[in-house]
Amino acid sequence: MTSPIDTAAAGGDLIPRPLAPAAERVRVWDPFVRFFHWGLAVAVLIAFLTEDELQGLHDWAGYTVIGLIAARILWGVIGPRHARFSDFVRGPRATLAYLKDILRGHPARYLGHNPAGAAMAVVLIGGLIATALTGVATLSNEGMEDIHEVIAYATLCLIPLHLLGVVVASRQHDENLVRGMIDGYKRK
Ligand code: HEM
Ligand code: HEM
Repeated sequence: MTSPIDTAAAGGDLIPRPLAPAAERVRVWDPFVRFFHWGLAVAVLIAFLTEDELQGLHDWAGYTVIGLIAARILWGVIGPRHARFSDFVRGPRATLAYLKDILRGHPARYLGHNPAGAAMAVVLIGGLIATALTGVATLSNEGMEDIHEVIAYATLCLIPLHLLGVVVASRQHDENLVRGMIDGYKRK
């Protein structure tokens, strides 16, 4: 399990640095995690935009979500260190304690997902599994449409919160987490 990093030195800069020199950067997100992340975001966006209008595309975007998540779950067991669930999944107590630290303004820094980001990842993945599976169930049972709709919108509501979390964590630790999810590197 990842432990927090001592950020007394790293977090103290008032001027954000453009990009840490190569020697100070470390590869955190492997290519599959990055492909999964942006593929998932695009597939969910397509499913959201096509419901009702383009049902065929909507269904295929949903199947893509199922495929990506199935592969991510396997990768979460056999993948490299920071991709593993055992590296970032915490219990409710540790997650709540970390949320309090965020509100107090000085949460510990993690190289992999911090406990709040990890909880968001787990809830998003769980919500998307439930959304996509109830979507498939609508094909044989029209009564499932309302349930699919409620679960879909409840899950989609988490996305702005996810983005807020990324912005807040990037500011608190003075680093660009979005760039990390694109090129795989973070500051040591
Ligand atoms: C439908 C939209 C999205 C979904 C469903 C989603 C879902 C997720 C999931 C499941 C993870 C965990 C990744 C893993 O461990 O494999 C994650 C992490 C992350 N996401 Fe998203 N995401 C979405 C959109 C975005 C967008 C638009 C951005 C940025 C502009 C973003 C930035 C990030 C970052 C920076 C992380 C890593 C956080 C960290 O450093 O711990 N996400 N997201
Ligand atoms: C993560 C994947 C998915 C997301 C985010 C999603 C999202 C949505 C949303 C927001 C609606 C709108 C409900 C409404 O306002 O009426 C909807 C409707 C629907 N979805 Fe999905 N969905 C997903 C996957 C699927 C899958 C895999 C299928 C089937 C294979 C499916 C089949 C349907 C059907 C039949 C409707 C009802 C359309 C209607 O009201 O006429 N969805 N979905």
